[in-house]
Amino acid sequence: MKVAVLGAAGGIGQPLSLLLKHSPLVSHLACYDIAPFTPGVAADLSHINTPAKVTGHVGAEQLDEAVKDANLVVIPAGMPRKPGMTRDDLFNVNAGITMTLIDACARNCPEAALAIITNPVNATVPIAAGVLEKHGVYNPAKLFGVSTLDIVRANTFVAELKGLDVAEVNVPVIGGHSGVTILPLLSQVSPTCSFTDEEVAALTTRIQSAGTEVVEAKAGAGSATLSTAFAAARFGVSVLEALNGKQGVVECAYVQSDVAETAFFATPLELGTGGVAKNLGMGELSDFEKQKLEEVLPALKANIEKGRAFVASKA
Ligand SMILES: NC(=O)c1ccc[n+]([C@@H]2O[C@H](COP(=O)([O-])OP(=O)(O)OC[C@H]3O[C@@H](n4cnc5c(N)ncnc54)[C@H](O)[C@@H]3O)[C@@H](O)[C@H]2O)c1
Repeated sequence: MKVAVLGAAGGIGQPLSLLLKHSPLVSHLACYDIAPFTPGVAADLSHINTPAKVTGHVGAEQLDEAVKDANLVVIPAGMPRKPGMTRDDLFNVNAGITMTLIDACARNCPEAALAIITNPVNATVPIAAGVLEKHGVYNPAKLFGVSTLDIVRANTFVAELKGLDVAEVNVPVIGGHSGVTILPLLSQVSPTCSFTDEEVAALTTRIQSAGTEVVEAKAGAGSATLSTAFAAARFGVSVLEALNGKQGVVECAYVQSDVAETAFFATPLELGTGGVAKNLGMGELSDFEKQKLEEVLPALKANIEKGRAFVASKA
């Protein structure tokens, strides 16, 4: 299958492309970026002795070719946070980038699964939906906001706290991918674990602000790149496995949804040959989670509206 990475020369894009080059499901890895050294990234990756053919594409005039007939497009293009910034502060720059890249996807690979990493994910996914709608090719089952990093972090923090094998831990994380909209469901952790009220409150806050922990530690050099690449590669490979017919593939992601009162919402999803096969919903929430959901919904609604208004303003 052909996978295109848009923003392939960046902090996330390079390790993400490396991890995808490793997947036997990828036959062609197209690396696109506006950075002039992108052909070098592609040349470097192309020397790895795995089956995927690697091509490099640089600049707007090579974008169409990069995404042409892709099965999956993963998008980490755009500006990351610096200390003191929220993901929402990235809107003005990243909204336009998302629009341009999705426009190319709509024209060149309308059937592809699209996985958006570019922040603010809560708004860039509605922007993508609006662009695809304008082209008459929007398939809600194939448009994803990548929130896997929240699950990866939650799994790590819970395993550390409870002394569990991290490979066995799964924490569903619902809502969105920014601040209070990130809602880990600690009442639904598998394997079943019990937490004190203090542990639930502290873990929830840590999972919500883990990105900021990295932004501050990097002190102006960007946000999470390596863990994001790991998480996005896990998500991308899960999508490819499902497209390829594997049964029982479940990942959380931010998608168009009727599970909550917002038009887009992250929950566990069963993936299939057509993208989302079944939305598994949010399950039974604890009282703490129900209370936190009240904070998620207005914040998420505002992010979605901002994305929609941006697309409408470009009509
Ligand atoms: N969803 C998540 O879990 C998550 C986690 C961390 C970061 N992010 C977001 O991912 C994005 C990328 O972060 P990063 O650390 O890799 O940033 P980076 O600055 O290291 O890399 C971004 C890359 O995008 C490229 N780019 C910019 N405009 C482009 C365009 N129009 N077309 C193609 N490429 C373009 C740049 O040249 C650069 O190579 C940011 O928006 C960041 O906030 C998301």
